Amino acid sequence: MSQWTPSSWREFPIKQQPQYKDREAVERIEAQLRKFPPLIFAEEARSLSDNLAKVAHGDAFLLQGGDCAESFNAFNADTIKNLFKVIMQMSVVMTYSSGKPVVKVGRIAGQFAKPRSSDFEAKGDQKLPSYRGDIVNDADFAPEAREPKPEKLVQAYYQSASTLNLLRAFARGGMADLTQVHNWNLDFVKDKALGRRYEELAEKITQAMDFIKACGITPDNTPQLRETVLYTSHEALLLGYEEALTRIDSLTGDWYDCSAHMLWIGDRTRDLNGAHVEFFRGIRNPVGVKVGPSMKEDELIALIDKLNPDNAPGRLTLIVRMGADKIADIFPPLLRRVTREGKSVIWSCDPMHGNTIKTESGFKTREFHNVLSEVKQFFEIHKAEGTVAGGIHLEMTGEDVTECTGSQSCNITVDALGNRYHTQCDPRLNANQALEMAFMISEFFKSSH
Ligand code: PEP
Ligand code: CO
Repeated sequence: MSQWTPSSWREFPIKQQPQYKDREAVERIEAQLRKFPPLIFAEEARSLSDNLAKVAHGDAFLLQGGDCAESFNAFNADTIKNLFKVIMQMSVVMTYSSGKPVVKVGRIAGQFAKPRSSDFEAKGDQKLPSYRGDIVNDADFAPEAREPKPEKLVQAYYQSASTLNLLRAFARGGMADLTQVHNWNLDFVKDKALGRRYEELAEKITQAMDFIKACGITPDNTPQLRETVLYTSHEALLLGYEEALTRIDSLTGDWYDCSAHMLWIGDRTRDLNGAHVEFFRGIRNPVGVKVGPSMKEDELIALIDKLNPDNAPGRLTLIVRMGADKIADIFPPLLRRVTREGKSVIWSCDPMHGNTIKTESGFKTREFHNVLSEVKQFFEIHKAEGTVAGGIHLEMTGEDVTECTGSQSCNITVDALGNRYHTQCDPRLNANQALEMAFMISEFFKSSH
């Protein structure tokens, strides 16, 4: 293989990039970004790798979740806080049932760029370039809005920095304190049966906290009880942006993409000989790859060898997104082959992207039943094969949105989708649905003991 540099990807075929009119402006902005401070510190990415190594061995569970696409307009403290709270809730639910730590990774603070199935969108007889996320263009269906604007790269950087700042403050400043478990229950969840189920669990944790406090262990003298780490991640789609934030770590001399702790390659850009795989092979962050229904066994092995040549546990997460009707056929052979070849990977389940449908009224949605079914099959397959179901990857929000149908806790009907359909791109689980998912997963943990 030829020499890797942060820009060596430029020599490879690339997909899903915006067609900017003003190339000089793009170059000017990338030069500006190269001078900006990194958003994360390499040592943090290494600590995530260490935690993910535990996931690979089955000693921890990975929870990765957040928006399909973050938005410039819906950027505010409450949505960040509510997502943080739901992730904390899900994490205690799952830790309580499994007895294992949950490694928390948000799809946040950089999750802006979207790959699209089609380069164009047509309405009536008008055809415009597709919306590619707020880092590229605007969602409104108008020619001006759909024009890619290089200066949006800078706004995405600042929004990421500001989001990360608040997340760090929540994680370290008291919001994650285990004496606060009751406060994570959001108002629109609290009154429902699910909210009460969570309250019962929170009560048990509070009692345990009282007990260990009496023994002298308190949040004041034991930081683990009052602090957490929420790592950040996004799909590294716009390689010009990612390259500009890729820096040499002064401690080790290694290259890290300092736009987030973890990056992943989407299902549409994971070509073995493409630019994205070339860029990813040289960065030392923990990385993910989406594994969709078209993945072939040999291709997967070659991809693993390229991205994790040292077979380091925790380096590579395979995010499986087959669809509830396909996973039982397609996934087991891939899993067996990777296991047989002794490759160390984390298997994480994305039950969202293989289960997207469009309603007659034009809403993109996901039926909660199908989402759960894919997760359930994922766990069952691992149980049957004796392998580790390492994690879950969700599009979710802490808001009371109506984007995915069904679920016991809120049973959203197709007709109700229009009530609070706010997503920039794909439909997300709302806080009720996400918490319900966490309880379901905790049942799988119990049954696999
Ligand atoms: C996504 O995670 O939002 C996404 C586009 O997924 P995939 O690459 O799996 O289609
Ligand atoms: Co999506």
